[in-house]
Amino acid sequence: MSWKSLDDLDLAGKVVLVRVDINVPVEDGRVTDATRIERIVPTVRDILDKGGKPVLLAHFDRPKGKVVPSMSLKVTVPALEAALGRGVIFAEDCIGLPAKQAVAALSEGDILLLENTRFHEGEEKNDPMFAAALAALGDIYVNDAFSAAHRAHASTEAIAHLLPSAAGRLMEAELRALETALGAPERPAVAVVGGAKVSTKLDLLGNLVGRVDHLVIGGGMANTFLAAQGVDVGKSLAEHDMTDTAREIMQKAETAGCSILLPSDIVVARAFEAGAESETVAVDACPADAMILDAGPDTVARICALFETCKTLIWNGPLGAFEIPPFDAATNAAAQKAAALTEAGALVSVAGGGDTVSALNSAGVADRFSYISTAGGAFLEWMEGKTLPGVAALEAAGD
Ligand code: 3PG
Repeated sequence: MSWKSLDDLDLAGKVVLVRVDINVPVEDGRVTDATRIERIVPTVRDILDKGGKPVLLAHFDRPKGKVVPSMSLKVTVPALEAALGRGVIFAEDCIGLPAKQAVAALSEGDILLLENTRFHEGEEKNDPMFAAALAALGDIYVNDAFSAAHRAHASTEAIAHLLPSAAGRLMEAELRALETALGAPERPAVAVVGGAKVSTKLDLLGNLVGRVDHLVIGGGMANTFLAAQGVDVGKSLAEHDMTDTAREIMQKAETAGCSILLPSDIVVARAFEAGAESETVAVDACPADAMILDAGPDTVARICALFETCKTLIWNGPLGAFEIPPFDAATNAAAQKAAALTEAGALVSVAGGGDTVSALNSAGVADRFSYISTAGGAFLEWMEGKTLPGVAALEAAGD
């Protein structure tokens, strides 16, 4: 980890361009989950405390290089102001005159948010000219957007080569937590990987089996592994064309000495809807007209017992169809166990990626894990062992 942090740079009187990820859910013109906004507060406060002038750079949604009014970042201003406890100035463009004038007018203590970087084609193209136009606005670049670090975009990658650059507090926290969980984990280490499809997590599973001691597979993707073992999964969601791949992953795990835990009992139903009649059966007893929607209590007991033997847990993806009760039972119970072990100081637990955070939020354990990442795609790519361009650029700048 050779990047610089906010502690390594003199920020007094400097305009600090801070790349944040405030790509948050919005409904009817209001932010419905401000988690990502709340997590950038320490960085913005530290910059202010050190006498710097924070200018926030961010994307919102996918406008594909065009100005799309419904994708304006202006919608985030009230939530930013609430989280930061002070006013936030908004500029109608992230480069050019509106941005330059807004930066020039900044007084000490002001916070400026610039309009969506993705309104310009140069952003996603990592265009050096666009990066230079952004860089011309400030003295220092801080990247606090781990969750956008898998994108090699002008405001996440190219700009880091143009200004003195550092990681923000959230970026630091994310990188340290992920390093603890997968870079150099305390052993034994267990990974829980759930979610619908094996096909979307092939690289991730392939990387994990070489890095952890135990892999728990849940959700729809467990059905594909069960099918690969010759289990009849009835009408369950399963990728029958991926069974060879599943067998390859099991073989790779065996060679690497990584155990794989698959469901031994399952919760099945004929309909995927709230209150649908369901029953728990042995894994080889799924009725032909039913689908597997959750892992059963025996499986949960085995997962909990496994957690008790481990020192590190990394979790991505729910164990069942957690959006609809009662098919959230296995995810909730295993998450509760992980939270309890974490609180007892027996386990370091790190979770992230898409559905995982909402699953852990609905299990009521999100603040009881050691670390919950704000990242979706970036968390997955990092679990796949890939180099994240935004992080690599910070490292290059830190050398
Ligand atoms: C995210 O929401 O995961 C990040 O903001 C990245 O967004 P993107 O997938 O549109 O690049």
